[in-house]
Amino acid sequence: MALDNDIERILWNEEEISQRVSELASQITQDFSDTVSSSAPVVVGVATGAFIFLADLVRKIKLPITVDFVRAESYGFGTESNGAPRISCDLKIDIQGKHVILVEDIVDTGNTLSCLIAHLKSKGASSISVCTLLDKPSRRKVNFELVGKGKFYCGFECPDYFVVGYGFDFAEVYRNLPYVGVLKPEMYE
Ligand code: IMP
Ligand code: MG
Repeated sequence: MALDNDIERILWNEEEISQRVSELASQITQDFSDTVSSSAPVVVGVATGAFIFLADLVRKIKLPITVDFVRAESYGFGTESNGAPRISCDLKIDIQGKHVILVEDIVDTGNTLSCLIAHLKSKGASSISVCTLLDKPSRRKVNFELVGKGKFYCGFECPDYFVVGYGFDFAEVYRNLPYVGVLKPEMYE
């Protein structure tokens, strides 16, 4: 595919991602199995980036869950978040008293996540967990706190490269690549 030519190297291929997603899903299934009798956890995807990860993850979670999306915008068309995400599309499901699992593509500076957690907390979630495919801890500027008995699940620690594929975009392109790869710098310089 033409898009492949813009990729410098692949960090995680389809098989590696699928294997790790299965592990995360079994961990979540195990951790939440005792909560479902009171209420089904709500899995909240952060659009657009988390849509593929979310779709793969929820099909491997063996519990009655509900699914919803929020959208937070901070990027524009660069590769640096501008630090002030805006919630441009809110939940449909009422999460009052519910266990929420927020599914993100990546935690980079932490701005988006801390803003989203504060927002979901204000809607009365009884716990907020975070499941992110990638984490770039070296880039963190803002710390985030989970809510209640919330847990942090992370697929892979990501080196400080701008990545695309498996939901990740650059200027809305590359999301449909089936792997996560590093974009050639000349593509965004
Ligand atoms: P943060 O607010 O700086 O933590 O940024 C989080 C958001 O930035 C993620 O949800 C992604 O959409 C985007 N992002 C961060 N790093 C990358 C990357 O390497 N490739 C594509 N998008 C990224
Ligand atoms: Mg995003």
